[in-house]
Amino acid sequence: MTSFKLPVLASLLLSIFSIAFAAEKGSIGINYGRIANDLPAPTKVVELLKSQGITNVKLFDTDAAVLTALADSNISVVVCLPNELLSSVANDQSFADKWVQANISHYHPKTKIEAIAVGNEVFADKNNTTDFLVPAIKNIYTSLNKYNLDSSIKLSTPIALSALQNSYPPSAGSFKPDLVQPVIKPLLDFLQQTRSYLMVNAYPFFAYAANSDQISLDYALFKQNAGNVDSGNGLRYMSLFEAQLDAVSAAMSAIGTKDMKMVVTETGWPSNGDENEIGAGKENAAAYNGNLVRRVLTGGGTPLKPQDPLNVYLFALFNENQKPGPTSERNYGLFYPDEKKVYDIPLAAAELSNDQATAANESKAQVKPSGNTWCVANEKAGEEKLQAALDYACGEGGADCRPITDGSTCFNPNTLEAHASYAFNSYYQKKARGTGTCNFGGAAYVVAQPPSYGTCEFPTGY
Ligand SMILES: *[C@@H]1O[C@H](CO)[C@@H](O)[C@H](O)[C@H]1NC(C)=O
Ligand SMILES: *[C@@H]1O[C@H](CO)[C@@H](O)[C@H](O)[C@H]1NC(C)=O
Ligand SMILES: *[C@@H]1O[C@H](CO)[C@@H](O)[C@H](O)[C@H]1NC(C)=O
Ligand SMILES: *[C@@H]1O[C@H](CO)[C@@H](O)[C@H](O)[C@H]1NC(C)=O
Repeated sequence: MTSFKLPVLASLLLSIFSIAFAAEKGSIGINYGRIANDLPAPTKVVELLKSQGITNVKLFDTDAAVLTALADSNISVVVCLPNELLSSVANDQSFADKWVQANISHYHPKTKIEAIAVGNEVFADKNNTTDFLVPAIKNIYTSLNKYNLDSSIKLSTPIALSALQNSYPPSAGSFKPDLVQPVIKPLLDFLQQTRSYLMVNAYPFFAYAANSDQISLDYALFKQNAGNVDSGNGLRYMSLFEAQLDAVSAAMSAIGTKDMKMVVTETGWPSNGDENEIGAGKENAAAYNGNLVRRVLTGGGTPLKPQDPLNVYLFALFNENQKPGPTSERNYGLFYPDEKKVYDIPLAAAELSNDQATAANESKAQVKPSGNTWCVANEKAGEEKLQAALDYACGEGGADCRPITDGSTCFNPNTLEAHASYAFNSYYQKKARGTGTCNFGGAAYVVAQPPSYGTCEFPTGY
């Protein structure tokens, strides 16, 4: 019998390790906006969602017909309490109670309401509803509690990226100072107390369109690119989207809120725009949304939080013909009102066809999902510095430099940068990726995906 113990223990340990190291997969949901006069009936829309394998949807209100159509669909729903109601809810607990009774408990759990977005981009609301936000959330919480729903339904509020004072580099992310004490800090405290998460609306499109001379389109669209190294934390960003999220994380850390989960409640790219809306177009929209879906469904998080899966709601299900503003505003949809696709991208894991799954696995290798990190040479450090650091790493440093000697597996490409990267990474891994072990006086930096130098494999996690 004792002979059994070892294999059992070993396989138990193995499965614990594979759980610990497996990248948790993220989720893709979709915003079902309805500022249009030509959309299909809600019952037809629910059929469309099901046919696409979409399991998470976000609404901008609590429309009765929509919530009824979603009943028994097993689709998780985020509803929104509109900004116009914030002042009434904040000033009147009985108003909040009635709203929860009529708009939430009336439908839940037949309609699987998982969260309420209290307001939407409130700090950017021209009607100045910011002061009502936290009191409104607290009153809704009290109401949920009365209906015994506080443990099954989360409360949060989507913030726009314009809440940030600074977002570049991501490690320097900070909130607008005038928002911090009055609203952001109390909001984050509340989210932490209730084990909720921050909702973030992030549009790399806006940043790109406004700075297309400085931001690479490939970087904005999750395509192959050299990435951007954050001079503050040494991490290399392969997409603007991830840089934006980490800027929000940094802004939270800067005011003392660590480990707050985030859900991206809106992101998207318009398939059409006005002449001055640089980057708008079908091809770019398909690239952004398609690559984002693949990125999310293959697992892993941002460079700063590689273990946290990405949970993202695309904007939006349909083109909405009655939205005001520039042409782009009416062209964020993945579907036309007649339910034809504006462009073809996978929306659910089951839809990632064999080809696409292969592509996803390849991009998974580039955008490392497992939370591992590597150390590579900073070419900008200059030849002299790199050579000195390489000599140190392979000498006193104790890095394993045999693979980069002539005739060995990692000799090619035979460049100083490739060899230095190999040596720096070996050193960094041997030092258990400790703080400061990937620096070499600025000659190296940490990356969140395996370095790519020919066929050379870079070890991780000694
Ligand atoms: C409902 O959805 C959950 C989560 O997406 C899933 O685990 C479960 O199997 C689904 N149930 C049914 C009956 O489809
Ligand atoms: C939501 O609640 C408000 C306030 O009680 C009520 O006036 C409104 O009719 C409700 N909406 C729906 C769709 O039930
Ligand atoms: C501001 O509030 C007024 C009155 O409630 C409303 O008619 C208007 O649509 C609101 N404007 C915005 C931008 O929300
Ligand atoms: C919004 O409210 C703040 C604080 O209550 C006030 O300082 C500001 O002038 C108001 N802005 C508008 C446009 O009403």
